[in-house]
Amino acid sequence: MRRLRRLPEYIIHPISPWERLYLTKNPWSFERPSEVHRFEETNRLIRERVGPVETIFEIGSAEGDQTEYLSQLANKVRGVEISLTAVRRAQYKFANNPKISFSVGKAPDIRVSERFDLVTALEVVYYVKPKNIPAVFEMMDRLGHKRIVSVYWPHKRVLDDFLFPTRNTSRQIIYWENKPRWLVAWW
Ligand SMILES: C[S@@+](CC[C@H](N)C(=O)[O-])C[C@H]1O[C@@H](n2cnc3c(N)ncnc32)[C@H](O)[C@@H]1O
Repeated sequence: MRRLRRLPEYIIHPISPWERLYLTKNPWSFERPSEVHRFEETNRLIRERVGPVETIFEIGSAEGDQTEYLSQLANKVRGVEISLTAVRRAQYKFANNPKISFSVGKAPDIRVSERFDLVTALEVVYYVKPKNIPAVFEMMDRLGHKRIVSVYWPHKRVLDDFLFPTRNTSRQIIYWENKPRWLVAWW
């Protein structure tokens, strides 16, 4: 028993990799200039290319950093996120913001009855098992009138393989330090 006590908590009580990641606050360091640039460019693309939206459904909302940016574009943003810890932190952060709400859910098994003007899956799809990726895009089709995804450039293959052959999308690269860093697609 004494020996067991020395083991890290997550070995004694195993938790999911996502909960383990969120043992640390802000594990993605979203305050980095490159991430702020991505948030701003994604907002610009939605505003200028996707068009006006009143309601947004955000898949993989993490601790709400991008949610805050998305809320500049809409009257209502609902974030869904696999990690309960991240959801709790986001709920605490935005407790006084009636435009923003969060709940736990795992794509592609997310059930909601309403339809949104825009469904986002920004920097999420490449974490989903390849066999489930088509179901994520089908879910986005059902839940949103418009949909947008972004992927870190080295993961662009998931869009080449699963999105572009089956949907008529518009696309744009977001550059950072003069190199392609993210690929954004909307349909
Ligand atoms: C890299 S963060 C992206 C956060 C934000 N969308 C952005 O672009 O900055 C990925 C988030 O997706 C969540 N996630 C991973 N797989 C998921 C799934 N199948 N369903 C819902 N959320 C998921 C992770 O817990 C994490 O918070």
